[in-house]
Amino acid sequence: MPANERGLTCHGDENAIIHVDCVTHRYPDGTEGIHNMCFSVYPKEIVALCGPNGAGKSTLLEHLNGLMVPDVGRIKVFGKDVDKNNLSSVRRLVGLVFQDADSQLFSPTVMDDVMFGPLNLGLSVEEAKERAEWALGVVGISDTGKIPHNLSGGQKRLVAIAGVLAMSPKILVVDEPTGDLDPSNALKIELLLESLKAEHGISVVIALHDIDMAARLADRICIVKNGGIIAEGTPEDVLYNEALLTSAGLQLPTVARIFKSMGLESSTDERPLTIDDLTGIMHGRLAQRKA
Ligand SMILES: Nc1ncnc2c1ncn2[C@@H]1O[C@H](COP(=O)(O)OP(=O)(O)OP(=O)(O)O)[C@@H](O)[C@H]1O
Ligand SMILES: [Mg+2]
Repeated sequence: MPANERGLTCHGDENAIIHVDCVTHRYPDGTEGIHNMCFSVYPKEIVALCGPNGAGKSTLLEHLNGLMVPDVGRIKVFGKDVDKNNLSSVRRLVGLVFQDADSQLFSPTVMDDVMFGPLNLGLSVEEAKERAEWALGVVGISDTGKIPHNLSGGQKRLVAIAGVLAMSPKILVVDEPTGDLDPSNALKIELLLESLKAEHGISVVIALHDIDMAARLADRICIVKNGGIIAEGTPEDVLYNEALLTSAGLQLPTVARIFKSMGLESSTDERPLTIDDLTGIMHGRLAQRKA
């Protein structure tokens, strides 16, 4: 691939299902939302974007379905350059759940809202209703006649997720999906994202401030700062790099903090990411001591 307009090489290998080479995206007021952003999504992976407020996570996510386009640069989805002629097919493939759920809900009822996408895809009313009922069932929303505007913040979030699920995207892009959810609904969404990948082969791109959830969920972590990706890699590598995380205004995941503070890191290559991983290692150590 040739160097981009700033002379940097941003390779998208042939396995990438989305590739963003965004040299720059500038908002109308002149703010550069992202620059020199080189980002790919691969099949059947969950990739988490972590970074401080204003880092450029939402700006990047809104490029992934062509909602925003680089001022300089290009986006490819399933190997094809995104342009104004193929935006609707790109949006069928890439479903985006906004950070602000309010901006996604506009129909008179919850059911209308979730049916809107499938109807727009050309499905019949019966098929659209079936998809909407399934998606609302998945997120656990039963009051489908309610006016979306009157829902609680967390309920709006769940309806917004259902609206995108009902479109059956191949790639799901979600921006801070659990920020306003109670712990049990947050866990429901976490398990849903996992099962979309495991059972349906869907790739998920997620912006997250919840570093513990990123540790549990992601196959790959990208640290976003000042409009670019400053590091990426496995959760074991990236989320145990305290200097890197601190430089991006982030903290170690809780499990990594406990593991390091107990002095367990130096004696093993293992890097637990979940409480189960951690307790498994600790039980193993106890058993060794007793033996
Ligand atoms: N509509 C807009 N007009 C002007 N500047 C904007 C606009 N939207 C975002 N920005 C700016 O672009 C930069 C990146 O913002 P973005 O929303 O992508 O950050 P973020 O990483 O998603 O932050 P957060 O964690 O707070 O959601 C910030 O400096 C922000 O102020
Ligand atoms: Mg954001």
